[in-house]
Amino acid sequence: MSGPRRFRAPGRVNLIGEHTDYNLGFVLPIALDLATEVDTLPGSDNLLVIRSEDRDDPRSVSVDDLSSAKPAKHWSDYVIGVARELIVRGFRIEPLQMTIRSTVPVGSGLSSSAALEVSSALALLQGRELDRLEIARLCQHAEIDFVGVPCGIMDQFVSVFGVQDAALCLDCRSLEAKAVPLPKGVTVVAVNSMVKHQLGDSAYRTRVAECAEACRALGVESLRDATLETLGRTKMADKPFHRAWHVLTENDRVLRFVTAAEAGDLNEMGQLFIESHASMKSDYEISAAEIDYLVAEAVRLPGCYGARMTGGGFGGSTVNLVADEAVPAFETAIAASYQKAWGINPAIYRCRPGVGAGEIH
Ligand code: GLA
Repeated sequence: MSGPRRFRAPGRVNLIGEHTDYNLGFVLPIALDLATEVDTLPGSDNLLVIRSEDRDDPRSVSVDDLSSAKPAKHWSDYVIGVARELIVRGFRIEPLQMTIRSTVPVGSGLSSSAALEVSSALALLQGRELDRLEIARLCQHAEIDFVGVPCGIMDQFVSVFGVQDAALCLDCRSLEAKAVPLPKGVTVVAVNSMVKHQLGDSAYRTRVAECAEACRALGVESLRDATLETLGRTKMADKPFHRAWHVLTENDRVLRFVTAAEAGDLNEMGQLFIESHASMKSDYEISAAEIDYLVAEAVRLPGCYGARMTGGGFGGSTVNLVADEAVPAFETAIAASYQKAWGINPAIYRCRPGVGAGEIH
């Protein structure tokens, strides 16, 4: 095996299309310049050593025991889950020392998990060929089967396929993606609330189950095959109805947002952000008081076209569309106002769409 190597995979901010991916709908994420990097060195004693520069709890597993490893509720589960998926696809995992560092804040809604999974997949492959879509898929499966979160494919897909200076409109059924450059004059600003409410993962599972319940009532395999019209005339419990309503209207908002972006219509793009947030708050019920505060404050500030929560929910970050010249004042004002109301300093990022995962030479 060769000497030291370094692999990188980005986090993402989703512009619009939330909780639509596992319903085989549309999403519009951008890959960030915040990323996870994995340095590798040849290992010894048959061991896979997984260590993070940000934490002091490394884990070592014999490469022969990876197939039978059980989830340990430890951050390294993401790496082990990915290793197991590679083994299933016929790859031998070589003894390796992995050193991980990340600029994607954990719990921020900016997909630190996918960045860790995808960078680990590349590190474990050590340059061996595997179709890039298959890399995204196996990372998603690691999260579903080993970590236990029934996520969609958005985060892993954009971490692999991110393009410079454009968002990716992904059809989560066909897995076809098109690059959507954003109009000039506007900056995507992510504001991290620094809050992540604990119920996140279990509420995510409940939402997935409620959407499945709506599908059963509608007699369809996924909500992609439903329409507002069929939903309107189908009897079902209140919650699945509202979840499905969010998903169907959100899919429509993604497509309208793409059209607006292509036409350079910033006002329409901002309005769709605002509508998306309202739908996540009332129909999907995944927002949080801190996030609602950040959104309400943002849209009152000069130069802000729209704001919404991004990611799985219950905290994390908001994404804001802000006129370039208004960005510095926006950042100062939103930070001051959040600090005053909640006593928390938010972390703020200007998001430039960047490229997907790869080896760093
Ligand atoms: C998390 C999941 C994604 C997606 C979003 C919500 O980030 O990993 O698959 O479902 O939540 O849009």
